[in-house]
Amino acid sequence: MDRNLALNLVRVTEAAALQAARHLGRGDKEKADQAAVNGMRKMFDTLPIDGVVVIGEGEMDEAPMLYIGEQIGKCTKDSVKLDIAVDPLDGTTAVAKGLDNAISVVAIAPRGCLLHAPDMYMNKIAAGPKAAGKISLDLPIEENLKILSQALNKDIEDITVTMLDRPRHNELIERVRKAGARIKLFQDGDVAAAIATCFDDLGADIMVGIGGAPEGVIAAAALKCLGGEFQGRLHPMTEEERKRCIDMGIEDVDKLLTIDDLAKGNEIMFAATGISNGELLKGVVYYENNMAKTYSVVMRAETGTVRFIEAIHRLDKKPEYAK
Ligand code: FBP
Repeated sequence: MDRNLALNLVRVTEAAALQAARHLGRGDKEKADQAAVNGMRKMFDTLPIDGVVVIGEGEMDEAPMLYIGEQIGKCTKDSVKLDIAVDPLDGTTAVAKGLDNAISVVAIAPRGCLLHAPDMYMNKIAAGPKAAGKISLDLPIEENLKILSQALNKDIEDITVTMLDRPRHNELIERVRKAGARIKLFQDGDVAAAIATCFDDLGADIMVGIGGAPEGVIAAAALKCLGGEFQGRLHPMTEEERKRCIDMGIEDVDKLLTIDDLAKGNEIMFAATGISNGELLKGVVYYENNMAKTYSVVMRAETGTVRFIEAIHRLDKKPEYAK
């Protein structure tokens, strides 16, 4: 895959972030999401790729753009065939309320390499490279904390576990507290939270708990680039959801999904741009004279290069970003 495609991916998440950030705190998550989708879709149209959305805004009848199965890119006979996983706005509620941690994300891989995850919950575990191959979603949390303590050469008391602040995690929270670790709960955005575990200075050693399955595939792609560990297990809430998995070709719904089951191989690229402030990325900042600044990260699994990109945008020269 042409490595320069990675930089084009940043343009895609920047476009979504610049559009969505206009809606910060305005109380309308649908509008914010639609703005992100519009920005992302338009920018995708300029890329020389033959992409198919495998993780997107929903099925064709639910989403007019970036729906599952949609063809993306200016496809020529030489275009590379790709799977595309998008979340134009991970943290719709966060943007609507003006809260932290909303980002725009895209992952790409050769056709057939990203899991077509159904839109339901997934039980997840994520940690940085030192824990890779050691922790497991099949182990009790207490055991994983012991393993992590050894891998990081840190007392359990100094380990920080992050998870979504949801009542469904109450029992897990109790067990982590009993085991002696610190806990950082967050309101939304478990893609950014999973990525944060791969950076020593972002105050998160491990992310656990139940979040969206599509977000799980995107996080796995990001952690592939970073050499981290990510595992998931689909968490259907009803018999109808379980049946949906089977209809989609997932025979063993309860299977432990390894990082390779979720994002296969090494030809994976990932980009994200901050919409509201977060520990991983700052949000969009608006300056005088109709200028805006974005903070993005882009990475490739093949080389492991991680680039943080700050970009200044002259919005007067980009009519598509007009208010
Ligand atoms: P949205 O942007 O779709 O609202 O997702 C935000 C998010 O926090 C995800 O990061 C996470 O995976 C999911 O919601 C958790 O779902 P729920 O809010 O139902 O607990």
